[in-house]
Amino acid sequence: MSAFLSQVEAVAPSEGFRESANVRNHQLYEYAGKNRIAFWEGCAQTLHWYKKWHTVMDWNPPFSSWFDGGRLNACYNCLDRHIGTKIENKVAFFWESEEGASREITYKDLYQEVNRLANVLKSFGVKKGDCVAIYMPLVPEAVASMLACARIGAVHTVVFGGFSSEALRSRILDANAKVLITADGSVRKGKLLALKDTADPAIEGLTCIEKVLVIQKEKNSVSMKEGRDFFYHNELEKAEEYCPCEEMESEDTLFILYTSGTTGKPKGIVHSTAGYLVGAAITTKLVFDVKPNDVYWCSADVGWITGHTYVAYGPLANGMTQVMYDGSVDKPKKDRVFEIIEKYKVNIFYTAPTAIRLFMKWGEDTFKHRDLSSLRLLGSVGEPLNPEAWHWYYKHVGSEKCPIVDTWWQTETGSIMITSLPGLMDMKPGSVVKPLPGIEAKVLDDYGNESKSGYIAIMSPWPSMLRGVHGDTRRFVQTYWNKWGGRYYFPGDSATMDEDGYFWVAGRVDDTLNVSAHRIGTMEVESALIEHEAVAESAVVGIPDEITGQAIAAFVILKEGREPSQELADSLKAIVVKKIGGIARPKKIFFTQDVPKTRSGKIMRRLLQDLAVGRKLGDTTTLENENLMKSIESKIENSP
Ligand code: PRX
Repeated sequence: MSAFLSQVEAVAPSEGFRESANVRNHQLYEYAGKNRIAFWEGCAQTLHWYKKWHTVMDWNPPFSSWFDGGRLNACYNCLDRHIGTKIENKVAFFWESEEGASREITYKDLYQEVNRLANVLKSFGVKKGDCVAIYMPLVPEAVASMLACARIGAVHTVVFGGFSSEALRSRILDANAKVLITADGSVRKGKLLALKDTADPAIEGLTCIEKVLVIQKEKNSVSMKEGRDFFYHNELEKAEEYCPCEEMESEDTLFILYTSGTTGKPKGIVHSTAGYLVGAAITTKLVFDVKPNDVYWCSADVGWITGHTYVAYGPLANGMTQVMYDGSVDKPKKDRVFEIIEKYKVNIFYTAPTAIRLFMKWGEDTFKHRDLSSLRLLGSVGEPLNPEAWHWYYKHVGSEKCPIVDTWWQTETGSIMITSLPGLMDMKPGSVVKPLPGIEAKVLDDYGNESKSGYIAIMSPWPSMLRGVHGDTRRFVQTYWNKWGGRYYFPGDSATMDEDGYFWVAGRVDDTLNVSAHRIGTMEVESALIEHEAVAESAVVGIPDEITGQAIAAFVILKEGREPSQELADSLKAIVVKKIGGIARPKKIFFTQDVPKTRSGKIMRRLLQDLAVGRKLGDTTTLENENLMKSIESKIENSP
């Protein structure tokens, strides 16, 4: 495999890009390789500190702390330090809605809004260390809410607006959020996504939520509970215009973000203030080759880590101008994304492979009338970018002049770990290239030996690494640190390294799926299905999908007396949407009478995957009942 991979033809960055790139030689890699801690210390020096740290890094495996003794504020670094400079009047966000409404928000506008909002939160009783939940569409107010929390030292937990009421409730409860910031709604695919209506049952009867702040975006009517619910704009108008920044300790929590794991319960990934911000700021600057007049567009929603690091904290800490689009990629037409690139003269475009494959399916003719000449750099994140889609993206979107940074990282890593610096390294379509300066990553086998094929391992701590799983230290240790006896971080991805040291990510090795670059736990979907009154047992697997990378297939065993039907399949899909959200809707439901298990009772998902995609069955020798597969196979053929 690795010999094959090294034969993939490398693509050099265009001369034009290389000549004007910020990083044009390998000195940074060499320096960081020899002086890793000093490298990170240098990165930290680019931020504003109230008090300097006394220790750069402390490592008591698996717990690290960075910049101990230092004091800073993340909001100050994203806003205040730009005020009074040229950046003050620069556009922070060009915002565009699905229906074509647009707004321009300068750094000064954002600063003023965040100050008032921080005062509103304070008036609601939010104090340093309290948690605020944010359940919003992709609007600048969502970023303002995150920054307002950071300003007063509150911890934010953003819940993606596509999550269901129950998913929101469980996250609010786990994080013990005191205030919820939401919106009346947002239009997606021409339909109203009524966030406040979804949030109402989520917080019904919860004692932790004391106040709810509601943005009136769509001006639809929402029910407001007297004394608990307040309209955002009314409260902001009344608020004082300046709110001082709280001086935070480096290791104070900046946010908690939930991600799926191998159990039914999502994990609250905890990120620190200083380490996270250092990682976010430096990787944005290096990977996106930031220039002062760039217009940058990362299409991620702030409900995901990509939106936290590469829409909120990283770009704002670098004083960048961004595009923010709250809508679907084909509304009103399939050239919508390219219309926006043309309109705002976007220079850097960062998106997920699932979107690239969709554009590729629609074909380049759908946007050939659009002028994309402003683009100079392209990015990809969230799942493997297959070589075919890579070549298409490079040729038809980037006109063979824009390097592609394929960035490998995770909610847990906080910032990009493995990718290329775009003016410096050759790309290989399908490879995420090499660890960034300051990151020590390798491919290891099960025993912790370096190997050409195995798992990604991060060999030493880095500033933006997760600090834990909220309220569950055991899970933190077990999930990420048990693989190699607590020595190295285990991200859960398998990978290959070729002769040139390039990384090729194969995918997750745990029971999580990657659907449209969103991680979903098989157990989460199984737990949702089992709540249907007709279901006795279920087993969920990922199947390859041309557009979304993976799609969800569910094998369902019905209770005695229940018969498979199309109606039942639809209602099973609906219960998953209700429990988790639209992103987890199974593509296929197979009714079966049993699922294959090992003698120790573990579901053999690999075999179910073979069945779901009609592949020849793999090894069945560990199966409890070897004849079972034949009977399942015949049953699923008859599933509706
Ligand atoms: O499997 C890897 C995949 O996405 C996982 C992380 O998911 P999440 O925490 O939701 O964060 C997504 C956005 C950073 C990883 O464990 N992944 C992420 N980026 C890539 C990738 N797989 C291949 N290539 C990538 N560039």
